[in-house]
Amino acid sequence: MSPLDIIVANWKMNLTVQEGKALAKSLLEITSALKKTAVWIAPAFTAIPALSPLLEGSNIKLGAQNAHWEDKGAFTGEVSALMLREFGCTFSIIGHSERRHVFNESLELCAKRGAALLKKGMTVIFCIGETLEQKELGVTFEILEAQLNPLLGALDSDQVENLLIAYEPVWAIGTGKVASIEDIDSAHSWIDFHIRKMCGGRTLKILYGGSVTPENFQAVLQRPLVAGSLVGGASLIFEKMQKLIAISEGF
Ligand code: PGA
Repeated sequence: MSPLDIIVANWKMNLTVQEGKALAKSLLEITSALKKTAVWIAPAFTAIPALSPLLEGSNIKLGAQNAHWEDKGAFTGEVSALMLREFGCTFSIIGHSERRHVFNESLELCAKRGAALLKKGMTVIFCIGETLEQKELGVTFEILEAQLNPLLGALDSDQVENLLIAYEPVWAIGTGKVASIEDIDSAHSWIDFHIRKMCGGRTLKILYGGSVTPENFQAVLQRPLVAGSLVGGASLIFEKMQKLIAISEGF
């Protein structure tokens, strides 16, 4: 496992091409000599072609927020891994809670996207997490299992090499309510245990996401099973990204 902490900037449906380029240029200035941190950016599809030449050859990885399982076809509104690859995208977020809950992407659909991309050699950040209601009902692990199993069941254990899991409790996303250390530890331990059980003893990187800010990042990053963070709101602001990177680097 690489010792790098991964900071994934999930820009969601934010930043125009010009705004995205400006933020990426500022980030390039502070990421050329990082020792402990890997910075990945998932912009809106429209900004990918403009960011691609900017980030080429840099330390920043470019990826997407979603991708289809086929290379091409009659899938209105979708973008394929093949198309993303043309612009140097090496990863995609899949199964983000906004895809699952706002756009009703099912357990099977998310798994299908994730499995196909991994089989095509893309890196996948597969998001899982429970709602507040599910947490209060005490069914968090059942929900995580229901989200993970269709994906893991579709893959051989050697096909999970480029898979990262992002634990993102739905109640913590964009709410300013970061999960407690106990919540993070218990979910990440359960995920780690379950992955090892399902994938022939393998371990995967597990990111935490949900209201990560410079104020709470240090505490999150110190947890033994946290390999980095998927960051939404704070990733849109250069000064906040700069602070997150500084925390990871130990400045
Ligand atoms: P947030 O989003 O940092 O704004 O809570 C995280 C995510 O949805 O990936």
